[in-house]
Amino acid sequence: MKHQTIEKSVPLMAVLTLLVVLIGGIVEIVPLFYIESTIEKVEGMRPYTPLELRGRDLYIREGCYNCHSQMIRPFRDEAERYGHYSLAAESMYDHPFQWGSKRTGPDLARVGGKYSSLWHQAHMKNPRDMVPESVMPSYPWLAENELDISDIAKRMEALTMVGVPYTKEQIANAVADLKAQAIPDSDSDGLLARYGEKVSLENFDGQSDRITELDAMVAYLQMLGTLVDFSSYQAQSR
Ligand code: HEC
Repeated sequence: MKHQTIEKSVPLMAVLTLLVVLIGGIVEIVPLFYIESTIEKVEGMRPYTPLELRGRDLYIREGCYNCHSQMIRPFRDEAERYGHYSLAAESMYDHPFQWGSKRTGPDLARVGGKYSSLWHQAHMKNPRDMVPESVMPSYPWLAENELDISDIAKRMEALTMVGVPYTKEQIANAVADLKAQAIPDSDSDGLLARYGEKVSLENFDGQSDRITELDAMVAYLQMLGTLVDFSSYQAQSR
């Protein structure tokens, strides 16, 4: 019996096992080198505006990811609490991604539009003013610190190196676009032409005389999960 020969010889068994594992590995891995992307393209996804991008940087600086995830898993309880499960495309411009692994607080992947910006202003200053039992730290300095926008173009340029498709025009207009989003009644035609009509323009920090870190943070939070229109989204069948 051939089986007996194989099973009685450890070296032969090892060689054949290795062969089978190798074939399996090749079949799984090789196609990845030939397809352009494993991320399904989804309508509505766009790179972050300069203001949102600065907000994301502050989210990382302040370590919000230590308590908040940004990934809704495809389970019924998650979908009922947070909305449609997260798509790979929704974090395709995140470098590094903010999926997180700990939920001391709720998932934030779809927090955009859930509250008013006024709510966020008060919540960031002192979470207990909005949610009395909250254990979230206060971040009062966000409303006090002037937003540093001196290197915004460089930050966008750096992201182009890892594949975020910022155009030359978007980078050249970074400062103007950032201001246009945070200062109401400013000329926002360029910003909307470059990032789409859906970009929300608001005085996010409630202070009209200056642009603070809170402007960027709230702009970022209010955008989260709002880019893809799930009323028209259809998952591609394979
Ligand atoms: C120590 C853990 C912790 C950290 C760090 C933390 N949070 Fe929270 N966060 C919470 C908890 C707990 C809640 C739920 C209670 C509340 O709303 O305050 C929460 C709630 C929130 C909510 C409301 C979510 C919802 O759906 O109701 C937002 C928005 C939020 N956090 C943003 C942030 C941001 C931005 C940062 C970083 C600047 C941050 N959090 C840092 C624990 C944390």
